Amino acid sequence: MNDDQLMRRAVESMPRAYAPYSNFQVGAALLDESGAVHTGVNVENAAYPQGSCAEAGAIAAMILQGGRHIETIAVAGRGEGLCPPCGGCRQRIREFASPATRILVGDENGIRQVFTLKDLLPASFGPDNLG
Ligand code: THU
Repeated sequence: MNDDQLMRRAVESMPRAYAPYSNFQVGAALLDESGAVHTGVNVENAAYPQGSCAEAGAIAAMILQGGRHIETIAVAGRGEGLCPPCGGCRQRIREFASPATRILVGDENGIRQVFTLKDLLPASFGPDNLG
């Protein structure tokens, strides 16, 4: 699966998001170490802080299927501004990624910008810090 195809999977997931409060639907698709793709969407809640991000859903799906490493992750959201992972999701991705893991950010028209995890979360704290 190439980058454009992975972004397509994120975009296709986006309309399935449950986002009645923000009206901002997000889709995520990640490629794991075995070549499997896992997708997720944001799921909001009337008790706002209980909502979860699309990336969290995709990571949970990966873990359930036995994947443990994110090779590439695509995040799709509409609007003029880019939809990069929020701070919390950068840390969630960090747990299962390498500094060079690529984060594709885009929308229904495809990839808009490509980052590495190191770009988005420099000097990060991770599993290695706990020995
Ligand atoms: N959102 C995500 O799903 N991923 C991100 O990285 C950015 C924000 C969701 C959370 C919330 O449901 C909506 O977008 C508006 O913040």
